[in-house]
Amino acid sequence: MFNVNEIRKQYPILNGVKMEGHDLVYFDSGATALKPQGVIDKVVEYYEEYSTNAHRGDYELSHRTDFEYEKVRKIVQKLINCKTDMEIVYTSGTTHSINLLAHGLKHSLKKGDVILISEFEHASNVLPWFRLKDEIGIEIEYVKLNENNELTVDLFKESIHDKVKLVCLAHISNVLGQCLDMKEIARITHEYEAIIAVDGAQSVPHIRIDVTDLDIDFLSFSAHKFGGPTGIGVLWGKYDLLDSLEAYNLGGGMNTRIECDTCYYLKQAPFKFEAGTPAIEATIGMGKAIEFIMEIGLDNIHDHIKKIRKHAIERIIKEIPEVIIYNKDSEGGPIAFNVTGYEGARSQDIGSALATYGIAVRTGEHCAKLLVNLLNTKGSIRASLYLYNTIEDMDKLVDALKDIVEKEKINKGDALSWLL
Ligand SMILES: Cc1ncc(COP(=O)(O)O)c(C=O)c1O
Repeated sequence: MFNVNEIRKQYPILNGVKMEGHDLVYFDSGATALKPQGVIDKVVEYYEEYSTNAHRGDYELSHRTDFEYEKVRKIVQKLINCKTDMEIVYTSGTTHSINLLAHGLKHSLKKGDVILISEFEHASNVLPWFRLKDEIGIEIEYVKLNENNELTVDLFKESIHDKVKLVCLAHISNVLGQCLDMKEIARITHEYEAIIAVDGAQSVPHIRIDVTDLDIDFLSFSAHKFGGPTGIGVLWGKYDLLDSLEAYNLGGGMNTRIECDTCYYLKQAPFKFEAGTPAIEATIGMGKAIEFIMEIGLDNIHDHIKKIRKHAIERIIKEIPEVIIYNKDSEGGPIAFNVTGYEGARSQDIGSALATYGIAVRTGEHCAKLLVNLLNTKGSIRASLYLYNTIEDMDKLVDALKDIVEKEKINKGDALSWLL
């Protein structure tokens, strides 16, 4: 059974750390999730007990490192239900995964080919494709969205055409939180013989993902968004497609032979993408983080977030008309909002005001700068939730917002001066 109070006990930062004199209320998990004790212990275990390089040594401690490090591929395989653990490339995170993919596909795309993205993508699913436009002359097009900035299957059908060779979309947007019907989108993409690459940075931590059932071609994600260490993530790809990508980093560990006449031979995927000494402790910690969320159950996590999110949305709509919510109907994930009069760059003032109540949110453009066109504002506030948030956290957020709005009314014309 999902017991949020028991879950919270596993997070040291939620047990004693104060912010501005208050118990921490953490609503910035979309940026990075808090780390449970098991993950912290696993990282420390590596440093304290077998701190050796991976795939390098022939002695007992290095064998233990190899075992712990490679075991994580099997854990990731279970998480996303791919066919083999050889389809899993360790990267430094989603950004690295998508850059690796963009570089890897360069030789198979040509001038005039179209890459289809959306205007709600994170910068890391925009800029690598923009660079390909500069380098080889591919075209970037955007999927049409409806009046609520949602991407429907019908609109996707209207947007795809024969010149589209690659579709790259966030499964769940990091600001608006819409979860796309990826199975249907993948099916349609394949009808056009195009490839579909999914940015799973926000979906892998929140919903059960089965890449075999979805029949997507690539998936990128970061461990730190579900409580793993920073600096580690995954690029998953269907094996033949993955193996056909060109490697970007060249160096130790990824080659089979090097000759003086400059000939060199590479290993096969996934190893050909993993040059140099990797983030070993982070990889091992990622394995622990995955085991932790799988044990709790991704369906349970998603249901819990949906429930507490709904509670906050209902209260905000009823009690604070000054708050503009951009995604009230979204199934889960972040609440994106502004306070009237404090839209755009001034959303930061509200973020700073919330911090004085011990509440951590993110403000600004959320690395999704094209969204400005859709939301018609240069900045917003994002309260992003995760499994450790409670109804009490949501009440603290709503009460603090009410308080801020009331104080602002009293101090009319002297905005947020009470903060100083
Ligand atoms: C949807 C989305 N894609 C990509 C990223 C980039 O992830 P990372 O910074 O871990 O590489 C993020 C991070 O916020 C994200 O939310």
